[in-house]
Amino acid sequence: MHPLLSLCVVWLLSMALALGEESSVNSFPRRTVPYHRDNIYMFHEEGVFNYSTMLLREDLGLLVIGAREAVYAVDLHDVSKKLASVKWEVTQKQREDCGNKGKNPETECKNYIRILHEMEDNRMYVCGTNAFDPMCDYMSYVDGKMMLENKTENGKGKCPFDPYQKYASLMVDDDLYSATSMNFLGSEPVLIRSPDVSIRTEFKTSWLNEPHFVSMAYLPESVNSTTGDDDKVYLFFSETAVECDCYNKPVVSRVARVCKGDLGGQRTLQKKWTSFLKATLECPVLESQPPYIIQDTYRWCDPKKPWTSCLFYTIFTPQSDTSDLSAVCVYKVSDISQVFSEGKYKTPVTVETSFVKWVMYSGEVPSPRPGACIDNAARKAGINETLDLPDQTLEFVKNRPLMDQVIQPMGGKPSLVRKGAMFTQIIVNQVQAEDNKTYHVMFIGTENGTIVKAVNYNGEMFIIEEVHVFKLAEPIKILRFSTVTDQLYAGSDSGVVQIPLATCERSSTCMDCVLSRDPYCGWDDRTGKCVTLLSKSQNKLIQSVQDGDASLCPKPAPSTPVNQSVRVGGSLKLHCTNPSNHAVTIWEQDRLTLNPTHRHHFLKDGLLILNASDSDAGLYSCLSVERSKMNTYTSTVVEYQVTIALSGKEDGIGFPHAQRDGLHVAIAIFAIAFFGLFSWNIYKGHFTRSCRDKSGQLSPEVHEEMALDSIVVVIIDHNNGEAT
Ligand SMILES: *[C@@H]1O[C@H](CO)[C@@H](O)[C@H](O)[C@H]1NC(C)=O
Ligand SMILES: *[C@@H]1O[C@H](CO)[C@@H](O)[C@H](O)[C@H]1NC(C)=O
Ligand SMILES: *[C@@H]1O[C@H](CO)[C@@H](O)[C@H](O)[C@H]1NC(C)=O
Ligand SMILES: *[C@@H]1O[C@H](CO)[C@@H](O)[C@H](O)[C@H]1NC(C)=O
Ligand SMILES: *[C@@H]1O[C@H](CO)[C@@H](O)[C@H](O)[C@H]1NC(C)=O
Ligand SMILES: *[C@@H]1O[C@H](CO)[C@@H](O)[C@H](O)[C@H]1NC(C)=O
Repeated sequence: MHPLLSLCVVWLLSMALALGEESSVNSFPRRTVPYHRDNIYMFHEEGVFNYSTMLLREDLGLLVIGAREAVYAVDLHDVSKKLASVKWEVTQKQREDCGNKGKNPETECKNYIRILHEMEDNRMYVCGTNAFDPMCDYMSYVDGKMMLENKTENGKGKCPFDPYQKYASLMVDDDLYSATSMNFLGSEPVLIRSPDVSIRTEFKTSWLNEPHFVSMAYLPESVNSTTGDDDKVYLFFSETAVECDCYNKPVVSRVARVCKGDLGGQRTLQKKWTSFLKATLECPVLESQPPYIIQDTYRWCDPKKPWTSCLFYTIFTPQSDTSDLSAVCVYKVSDISQVFSEGKYKTPVTVETSFVKWVMYSGEVPSPRPGACIDNAARKAGINETLDLPDQTLEFVKNRPLMDQVIQPMGGKPSLVRKGAMFTQIIVNQVQAEDNKTYHVMFIGTENGTIVKAVNYNGEMFIIEEVHVFKLAEPIKILRFSTVTDQLYAGSDSGVVQIPLATCERSSTCMDCVLSRDPYCGWDDRTGKCVTLLSKSQNKLIQSVQDGDASLCPKPAPSTPVNQSVRVGGSLKLHCTNPSNHAVTIWEQDRLTLNPTHRHHFLKDGLLILNASDSDAGLYSCLSVERSKMNTYTSTVVEYQVTIALSGKEDGIGFPHAQRDGLHVAIAIFAIAFFGLFSWNIYKGHFTRSCRDKSGQLSPEVHEEMALDSIVVVIIDHNNGEAT
């Protein structure tokens, strides 16, 4: 390779390194953990698919899993241990009826378990699609046996007919709140509460317009309320925007909420929500149009703080497949609640003859405020329940359920953006790190069977790792975690897996442990191990999550080089895999930096020396150069003492002729990878300018001797250049 070109390789690598932090769009996980079945507990039943519903029963030590035609109870500590199961299959007749209506008897005409909730009396409520005829039943777990009570109830409005249709549900005080479609065609969307006083949404496009329901959350807003407010149920969904006066109606993300005490109106809105209000959620990713669409939400609350401090962690993905970015936006419950309680409404106005335009309502708003829960002020006015609400208030909210103000995420921008497989599910856990501060760790499931673990440190996005938890690249359909077991549970079409919240043993050095910036992990200098803080060890641990300051680590003991030998003219591969995707690997021979040449090939997993000569003898060091927030750190991954064997003697370590083909493939892969990086940088517009600048400054002679320090300087130079 021409020296100039190799300089550019080094430079491009450092660019990639620098970009990792500078540009959120290029953020990628520091560590990629491939699938390994030995590391993962898995539950899968032969011939059973679609493990997409879960109920955590920490009180019983169970994880209850809803799949196709079956419900399982597995051990919360080891999901591969099945403790009980019930089958709930459709009958031959049901399957035929469903098939006669034009549905696929082998796939759609089965019973997909969609609803699993705990009741106050310890039983469970379970619903399934039941061959396009949804049904619900009660289920008990007694003495290690799980049983359906066969008290089947109509599941219409609780559970979808169509197994492919999105839905959301929540159980509060034995009342089921469900958002799904009421009919066979899937064309009548509702948010409904059952069974006590059944209340539902009005069937109007201004209320719900071709919605895709995502999730629901409960907030106990009556607790310590100074205004005598009610508890609320929030619903997240996407729908076609009625309010947009554009030709192609875009899909928008929404949050709606209803009051728990809502009993409907007396004449207007009879048996309908009087408190259904909705607002648009925005997650601005690169000012993209059309907007990104909501996919999942996790309600995060600190149990020690009032509900106003709760947050909604929300996943967004692009509407069209022109982008492969996914994002997490975080919303404050208090911001959402304020829009509903004080914000302006949108109202439809007819312009010209039939064209309807939605604008901000600026007229007089009736009292009590439309959509508000019954509070002390209303009670004082003699309105004790929603049945007492005046028609004026009810008519107003019936026609204007949409708020004018758009809800913006915390900080006005996403908390995480990533390129790659689309996000599907999110959960968030809080952990107290060694600095006594608490951090929110996001665990995000993707369409590719992976879980991404990430933290936003004061505005800086950091992806700790991406773990492949399923063998196949299949979407993660559900995510749950337990703080009793400190385990995470993920379901897909093929099964359920369990992984620990933290696997600190993946770091074998202090440097790697600290640079991983995982708030669950710290380095225990006494045992020389990277351990989890969850184990509450007495020892002081070395950790620096905010800065990634690895200078706190003790100086590592000098490594013992591994002996290798190669004959003259032979080939040798020195293995070295860098634990971090954020680092650049550097090779040294007798402490002098090696550069790729036609005889020295830098592979992803090592150094390949071809056509060895006497000059190749020496001490080879594989160094990892990682730039963290605080500084750039260099560590030795492995060292080899290479000797040149007497010619004619094959020593077995060298590169036999039979592997030559493999070698060529390796070279080809390297070339492709290089050109990938090359063209990516050209695309990004960094290459042309930077490489010209740098090669103008550095002569090839300088480059031949270029030491590690120079590379670090290059990186810093670049940053200064970028900043000015
Ligand atoms: C159920 O799983 C099968 C097998 O992976 C898959 O082809 C199908 O799309 C899934 N059905 C639903 C409703 O998710
Ligand atoms: C419900 O029906 C199933 C299958 O017919 C049966 O095994 C089970 O014992 C029944 N449950 C009760 C509580 O009777
Ligand atoms: C409600 O107020 C009581 C008494 O002031 C307090 O102990 C409790 O923690 C508060 N609850 C919440 C959820 O804030
Ligand atoms: C509301 O409740 C108060 C006290 O419980 C009662 O005096 C009043 O008559 C009630 N008002 C209506 C309209 O029912
Ligand atoms: C999904 O995973 C497969 C292997 O598991 C990988 O080849 C592919 O590149 C991944 N796709 C994305 C978008 O990351
Ligand atoms: C964290 O709290 C512990 C116990 O309260 C204390 O000993 C320690 O010094 C604190 N650490 C920091 C970094 O503040």
